[in-house]
Amino acid sequence: MSTGSGTKAAPDAGHAIEVAGLHKAFGDLDVLKGIDLTVTEGEVVCVIGPSGSGKSTLLRCVNLLEEPTAGTVSVTGTEVTDPDVDIDRVRRRIGMVFQSFNLFPHLRVLENLTIAQRRVLGRGKEEAAGIARRNLARVGLAEKETAYPAQLSGGQQQRVAIARALSMDPRLMLFDEPTSALDPELVGDVLAVMRSLADEGMTMLVVTHEMSFAREVADRVVFMDDGMIVEQGPPAQVIGDPQHERTRTFLARVLDPAAAQIEE
Ligand SMILES: Nc1ncnc2c1ncn2[C@@H]1O[C@H](COP(=O)(O)OP(=O)(O)O)[C@@H](O)[C@H]1O
Ligand SMILES: [Mg+2]
Repeated sequence: MSTGSGTKAAPDAGHAIEVAGLHKAFGDLDVLKGIDLTVTEGEVVCVIGPSGSGKSTLLRCVNLLEEPTAGTVSVTGTEVTDPDVDIDRVRRRIGMVFQSFNLFPHLRVLENLTIAQRRVLGRGKEEAAGIARRNLARVGLAEKETAYPAQLSGGQQQRVAIARALSMDPRLMLFDEPTSALDPELVGDVLAVMRSLADEGMTMLVVTHEMSFAREVADRVVFMDDGMIVEQGPPAQVIGDPQHERTRTFLARVLDPAAAQIEE
């Protein structure tokens, strides 16, 4: 089920992310070995794969937190690997949510959401606060604006981090294992927020181990192993009927075998 996120968008739908021939090495270590990946506007793409396969490095190359060794990366039509690019301008189009929430501990929730709006986008105090409140409501935390991060659960902090990213009006969102640090009972609320974003048509590139989320929300699932894309396609195909042995081995490890049997 891919809900309303416009994958079957008009044929002229733009490319939100275009990665071509991407290589990344750290010293002698080849981490990305030639990645080609396109994400269309409105598309939700989930990246799965074993630890160390290069998923985070791929995301970090998309917003140039890592500099690619070779290849090109374009975001909403701008080549970020062009040496003359105004990278700060491009980064403003990208919301990024990490496993760790990175909220300012000494600032209340509302200030966590307004500080970058004011400093980076130059918004006035009232305007920034209005946008922050709207996004807090969007993630179900309207009543928490005066709380400090330490007074919130991990799941609430991650939803604040998502609201913070949304307050910058991103054109696309990158998520790197946003629920991995959370207690199991807190995962659902964060995934629900991500699902509603997908339903609203947000372009999302999501690294996750949540297979049921990928199955239900992703338009496309990409399986990475050892710095390469091994296979990609609709979730029913990649998760439900993987073609490669490496994908099958990975899925057997992450999927609860009992649950998998019940689904059959
Ligand atoms: N800054 C870095 N310096 C050296 N090695 C790194 C760096 N970042 C990642 N790596 C290595 O790159 C490989 C892929 O890492 P990563 O992209 O984090 O994988 P994943 O997110 O799939 O677990 C790992 O072997 C990791 O140790
Ligand atoms: Mg990672």
